[in-house]
Amino acid sequence: MMRRMADESEETQDLISKKLLAGNRAWVEKQLSQDSSYFEKLAQGQHPHSLWIGCADSRVPANVITGTSSGDIFVHRNIANVVVHDDLNMLSVLQYAVEVLKVQHVIVCGHYGCGGVAAAIGHQNLGLINKWLRYIKDVYRINAVELEKYTDPKKVERRLVELNVIEGVHNLAKTSIIQEAWVRREGPLLHGWVYDLSDGLLRDLGVNMSDTGHLEAIYKYDIDE
Ligand code: CO
Repeated sequence: MMRRMADESEETQDLISKKLLAGNRAWVEKQLSQDSSYFEKLAQGQHPHSLWIGCADSRVPANVITGTSSGDIFVHRNIANVVVHDDLNMLSVLQYAVEVLKVQHVIVCGHYGCGGVAAAIGHQNLGLINKWLRYIKDVYRINAVELEKYTDPKKVERRLVELNVIEGVHNLAKTSIIQEAWVRREGPLLHGWVYDLSDGLLRDLGVNMSDTGHLEAIYKYDIDE
């Protein structure tokens, strides 16, 4: 019986991968039917206007929810869209997007119902993931006075989703990558957004930054023009 269940599960897995490959072929045909040189053009290079830093959650795909296409958005995703200054992966994506691709916008996008943020509020010992969620616990600590005013745990979670995005935007502004771009060229404009899984809408948190005006002085670098 166990054997049979294992076989069935392998068969199901095989079906999923076949479906993905068939889905790819159908998508290629659809693109070509709309524009026969679609892939030729994309193969020549990318000129995305934006960098998206979002959650790895499968329900928040950048291109799908913004109605954009391949080539429009450079993307970095991790658990709970954390932006911290010692993440070489995020910083490498940021440097390439800002200095080479010269994106005009950098968007940090969180989402209500984020499992990473919920886990960070909790006390379960999750092993390695503890280290990642610690960054969000730190955002909680910094904003504890506000967060502990709310009696509804859902409100606390939703607000921490927002505060984690706002912290991320500020952490971007604290990088020399962003500060150099602000001195040496126009932009990029930083944005903080939250996606609502329950209605599909993006909300702008109004934390746009395009210079170090709102940044605490200690984080400002001397940058030559
Ligand atoms: Co999430």
